[in-house]
Amino acid sequence: MSVSFRSERPNRLSPEAHRSLTEAAQRDPERYWLDEAARLSWVNAPTRAIDSEHGWFADGTLNASVNCLDRHLETRGEQVALIWQAEDASHVVHMTYRDLHAQVCRMANVLKAQGVGRGDRVAIHLPSVIEGIVSMLACARLGAIHVVLFGGFSAEAIADRLADSGAIVVITANVGRRGPKRIPFKATMDAALALRPDSLKVTRVFVVSVTDDQVPMQEDRDSFLSGLMDASSTECAAETMASNDPLFLLYTSGSTGKPKGVVHGTGGYLSWASYTHEIVFDHQENDVFWCTADIGWITGHSYVVYGPLSNGATILLFEGMPSSPAPGRWWEVLQTHKVTTFYTSPTAIRALMREGDDIPARYDLSTLRVLGTVGEPINHEAWAWFNDVIGQKRCALVDTWWQTESGGILISPVPGAVLEKPSSATLPLPGIQPVLLDEKGAPLEGPAEGVLCIDGAWPGRALTIWNDDALFQTTYLKPYPGHYFTGDGARRDEDGYYWITGRVDDVINVSGHRIGSAEIEDALSCEHAIAESAAIGIPHDLKGQGLVVYVVANETADPDVQKLAVSVIASKVGRYAVPEKVYVVPDLPKTRSGKTVRRLLRKIACGETNGFGDLSTLADPEIVPVLIKIVQGHG
Ligand code: PRX
Repeated sequence: MSVSFRSERPNRLSPEAHRSLTEAAQRDPERYWLDEAARLSWVNAPTRAIDSEHGWFADGTLNASVNCLDRHLETRGEQVALIWQAEDASHVVHMTYRDLHAQVCRMANVLKAQGVGRGDRVAIHLPSVIEGIVSMLACARLGAIHVVLFGGFSAEAIADRLADSGAIVVITANVGRRGPKRIPFKATMDAALALRPDSLKVTRVFVVSVTDDQVPMQEDRDSFLSGLMDASSTECAAETMASNDPLFLLYTSGSTGKPKGVVHGTGGYLSWASYTHEIVFDHQENDVFWCTADIGWITGHSYVVYGPLSNGATILLFEGMPSSPAPGRWWEVLQTHKVTTFYTSPTAIRALMREGDDIPARYDLSTLRVLGTVGEPINHEAWAWFNDVIGQKRCALVDTWWQTESGGILISPVPGAVLEKPSSATLPLPGIQPVLLDEKGAPLEGPAEGVLCIDGAWPGRALTIWNDDALFQTTYLKPYPGHYFTGDGARRDEDGYYWITGRVDDVINVSGHRIGSAEIEDALSCEHAIAESAAIGIPHDLKGQGLVVYVVANETADPDVQKLAVSVIASKVGRYAVPEKVYVVPDLPKTRSGKTVRRLLRKIACGETNGFGDLSTLADPEIVPVLIKIVQGHG
């Protein structure tokens, strides 16, 4: 019997509804996901959900920008879709769905005039300005694949991603504002484009003028966007895309040094962003949804743009920083715009918590209903502060676990349905089947700790890695055959709740930013003065994890190796990946087969001096006391 869960479901799930959805999804996933697909507006509605060969909703066709804009015009054309709060408190823009639709069409027409069409890649490199969202949706409208590049990437990191994606057009800004500072977006992009022109396909650079700052423009390549948009039509027909046509690529870090362009499709991804935004954030009419993530990360894609806009929500985009010009800025923004739903990172909460309870106490936070965190585990103290001081003990608090590759949230409390336990991501969303495996890959039952994998399929899962499907297979599907490997470890308690314990691969999570050990080590290996290196993560009070790098110098006792390592990382990866500490050491602890023993490096960096276990498997156990001395001496 087919049941339409969607029509029967109240907006806020009860515990029983959550249970019955979970059971229904287990009983008949095909039916369940097909029903969920009905939340989207399709040109041709899919008749199939899961097809291991052809992907999600394989015979469905749709357009993502139509789902985020056009279909709302009749019912909510005059509703505010986007509130943009500038760095300057007096500068606010309210855009209705009709306004946003018009701007997206204008931008799409500008891109189209440049020859951008289905399947072309367009790189978006912008600060938190409206044009970021408009550009993403304009690409989606044309069937072009957007590649949003984080503003913190260095020129080299940008060049790598432009080359790998084969982007033909770039959208950037003259500068970004960061308090009184100016971030040189255009200059960084110019440097990236000059780095290896032969491997890049970019022929056109569109520039958003965020401020009056002048930047050099290269004639016949660079144009300011606003004049072109003003001269363009506010109508632009949307391309009809197949459900599994890529909607975007987003680069993330993994165990290999090379950046991975995670590919998300259209129908599966969008239905997942919409489903999870609705149930996890208990989405209601008149909500004002504020996700503080940058659009350069997956959280920005799914919960600034696609989830909330596909559900017809009002989103808030803030240009500035949490405590600029003074502590309390975020709370002021929250109060001014009557935010109901606030989604941010544990690192931000820890930093704000340090400013003291009296700062948020000055603001009216009574409109808040749901608070969320993402990107890293949230410690008890930060959870309690968020809950008590910001949520005033009356808000739902959702600790959402997911990743770039999952497209949207997988494990999280659901307001009204799942009781929270501080610092636990709690239970899988209906339709998600986590499994814990032991080191041999055998599933563990009941309360246990192991490697976190996901069984079965869900619509939001990435399609592949751009240009490298083999890497997709080896990273996610081959380590534990029959299961999707998340790269995380987790513990399951007696209530079936999940507690994420952190990465089990060589990925380091600094303030919610994923940094691959290999990414750092590869960058350093290009330097002649550096023979070898190892990057590891250690616990950090504010950032969750701090990055520590051990470097073996080629010329011993070169006093500048430390500085060199920092500058190489800043220029090859980006300033966000600059390590807390760099230790210059004579050698790394290795097994006899030459594998670096990171476990030891972590313990030593944490200040441990004994309890290292059996060192007899090391090629040179004598290196251990030497490393301890260097680390301790370094203070
Ligand atoms: O280790 C997990 C951690 O962040 C990783 C995913 O990073 P990224 O792809 O950059 O996506 C971040 C935003 C979804 C995961 O593999 N992580 C994410 N959320 C949580 C978390 N760790 C613990 N608790 C969470 N709620």
